[in-house]
Amino acid sequence: MNISIIGTGYVGLVSGACFAKLGNNVICVDIDENKIEKINKGISPIYEEGLDEILSRNKDKIKATADYKFAIENSDITFICVGTPSKSDLSLDLSYIKKAAEEVGKQVQKKHGWQLIVVKSTVLPGTTKDIILPILEKYSRKKAGAGFGLAMNPEFLKEGIAVKDFLEPDRIVIGSYDKKSSNILKELYKNLSRPIIETTLSTAEMIKYASNAFLATKISFINEIGNMCKKLGIDTYEVADGIGLDKRIGRAFLDSGIGWGGSCFPKDLDALISWYKKENEKPEIIQSTVTINEQQPLRLIKLLKKHIPQINGKTIGILGLAFKPNTDDARESRAIPIVKQLLIEKANVKAYDPKAMNHFKKLFPDIIYCNNSKDVLDADAVIIATAWDEFKKLDYKGKIVIDGRRLLEAKKTAKTYEGVCW
Ligand SMILES: NC(=O)c1ccc[n+]([C@@H]2O[C@H](COP(=O)([O-])OP(=O)(O)OC[C@H]3O[C@@H](n4cnc5c(N)ncnc54)[C@H](O)[C@@H]3O)[C@@H](O)[C@H]2O)c1
Repeated sequence: MNISIIGTGYVGLVSGACFAKLGNNVICVDIDENKIEKINKGISPIYEEGLDEILSRNKDKIKATADYKFAIENSDITFICVGTPSKSDLSLDLSYIKKAAEEVGKQVQKKHGWQLIVVKSTVLPGTTKDIILPILEKYSRKKAGAGFGLAMNPEFLKEGIAVKDFLEPDRIVIGSYDKKSSNILKELYKNLSRPIIETTLSTAEMIKYASNAFLATKISFINEIGNMCKKLGIDTYEVADGIGLDKRIGRAFLDSGIGWGGSCFPKDLDALISWYKKENEKPEIIQSTVTINEQQPLRLIKLLKKHIPQINGKTIGILGLAFKPNTDDARESRAIPIVKQLLIEKANVKAYDPKAMNHFKKLFPDIIYCNNSKDVLDADAVIIATAWDEFKKLDYKGKIVIDGRRLLEAKKTAKTYEGVCW
């Protein structure tokens, strides 16, 4: 099939590359010229395992451009994958997706054939039908279901293993306005041989939010249990193994630590809370999930102060700035509140991350960035904030190590070792 992808970030680029790998022709549209140039050279503008290889091997099937006209004219299916970040009031910022829908609509108007438009960005239930559909109809001057097809196909990939997740998803959710759109998407995903759920646009949107809210809640839950275990001298990971074998619970997402970050959980939960509050309702569980997550990284600072009561003027090393290992994404990384607090308390901060330092530098230009993990150890104490494999192999040279990510190997060479929940 001929596919266009609007917005080539983590979701759009991985989707586009994987669709090409599956034999489709893909046109990637972005407003970022730098990304376009790199993709056309077969180089990934983001770090994601396996992506560079797919892009360079499928150069003939993937084109990147800023030209919506070229993209819509030369494709039958358009996936909208632009960002849907939080606004300052924590509600969802729909400006990018509205603009993308407007541009797609304008080109669909000029096109003779029928176009399937698929929203892949995460949007609150009701958005595709009540906001995107009217924009598309207005600018295309065509009717949904007749002049163009409309579907909502949420993405569940995890950064770090995004390519694998895209190609081997647990399920594929297809919300559609019209049956023809749903049938085409089923055909597109046929070769993945995974369970497909066909539903309405709004249900597909809610499945995505409910999924992220549940996963985030699972992590905050085990972190609360972990905080209790720490006081009791119980190993929270043994508890997680013990409850995880219960099929009703499952072991995944039960690794306690300093909490979740990234581009999805924080803003998705915030959007859900913000929308529910506008309905004059109080989101009890999801609000607590967020509150626990905000407090969790600061527990590392408390633990640090057990060993160095006055951190003013001391040098604290931070290992890991990405929100999780194997990605360069530092959005809402748990290292952010930790560094913020250290700076408030006038500590000197030196940090290292194998992939995310450039992104982190935009937030904290004035801390010291080290060339390698060893240099971080030249500090009064070291905090482990991301579970990169290379930190397991480090010689911690008799330092005070405060671990937020359960790298127990550090115990062997540290003078003092404290885990946040163990
Ligand atoms: N990152 C994830 O792990 C993940 C997983 C599932 C779902 N999602 C959802 O997918 C969506 C995209 O997330 P992301 O992390 O890939 O975002 P991102 O910020 O990495 O990428 C968005 C891209 O869209 C481009 N863009 C913005 N406006 C545009 C326009 N008008 N036309 C063309 N391109 C435009 C930007 O330049 C950028 O390259 C969000 O709604 C997110 O919630 C993300």
